Amino acid sequence: MARGHTVDVVDTMHCYMDITSSRPSVRYKGKALPKYDAVIPRIGASVTFYGTSVVRQFEMTGTFSINESVAISRSRDKLRSLQLLSRKGIGMPRTGFANHPDRIDDLIKNVGGAPVVIKLLEGTQGIGVVLADTQKAAEAIIEAFMGLNASILVQEFIEEAGGADIRCLVVGGKVIAAMKRQAAEGEFRSNLHRGGVAKIVRLSPQERKTAVDAAKTMGLNMCGVDLLRSKNGPMVMEVNSSPGLEGIETATGKDVAGMIFEFIEKNAKPNRTRTKGKG
Ligand SMILES: Nc1ncnc2c1ncn2[C@@H]1O[C@H](COP(=O)(O)OP(=O)(O)OP(=O)(O)O)[C@@H](O)[C@H]1O
Ligand SMILES: [Mg+2]
Repeated sequence: MARGHTVDVVDTMHCYMDITSSRPSVRYKGKALPKYDAVIPRIGASVTFYGTSVVRQFEMTGTFSINESVAISRSRDKLRSLQLLSRKGIGMPRTGFANHPDRIDDLIKNVGGAPVVIKLLEGTQGIGVVLADTQKAAEAIIEAFMGLNASILVQEFIEEAGGADIRCLVVGGKVIAAMKRQAAEGEFRSNLHRGGVAKIVRLSPQERKTAVDAAKTMGLNMCGVDLLRSKNGPMVMEVNSSPGLEGIETATGKDVAGMIFEFIEKNAKPNRTRTKGKG
């Protein structure tokens, strides 16, 4: 490619490993993969368990992974992520979660009462994210989800965000690109899949710091941090370890992929993985 690198695209789910070997390797289509300088994991949410084990195996071979397996697993667990962010004092919407509360009314009141946002833990692209305007509606929705044995999260509704969120792309401890996604008319979810529109945005120093702190808390070198602009400052909604690049490159006109390669060129020394999959 343009920067003089050779790139192989490898389907994570078709990688297999010989774990007992004293010389660890990753095998693919009948052969051991060459010893790469670096890997860029793109692990879909539905394959986190197997995907992170493949990344861990690359780490054991000494290959640099832009995001470590441990950090990917950490960020994939929405509840754990919010707990870690809260421990670091990073702004986030007040959030409650429960498996089978016998006091649903209290769960709702505890995040400030209606209106609240109720989210399915496994939801993505805005599906499974519901706005409940009243206490009664919130209780009914939570009861319905629980009847289906779905894990949920109840969150303070940040109305002043006006149906917009900010996606910050953090690479190597810096925000290298940011876009604002505005929801379609009459919709509070800004997901592009739900008709949201993306535009370039200027971040305040506090927003920049929040995004960088969130990435650092997760231990991710490259990630998308989604913020809501609230009257109490930026609030982190999510940290995504496999952020899409196309949308943000189009919205900002920046060569995001180029900047990711630059980071790898500077940092991909063998055995630079901090955890080597431990912990
Ligand atoms: N607490 C909130 N207050 C205001 N708006 C919210 C809140 N939570 C979510 N939203 C809006 O709904 C959208 C979808 O929510 P969220 O990003 O949590 O779910 P998702 O996109 O389905 O999941 P994921 O981002 O994990 O793939 C957000 O982009 C945001 O615009
Ligand atoms: Mg989202």
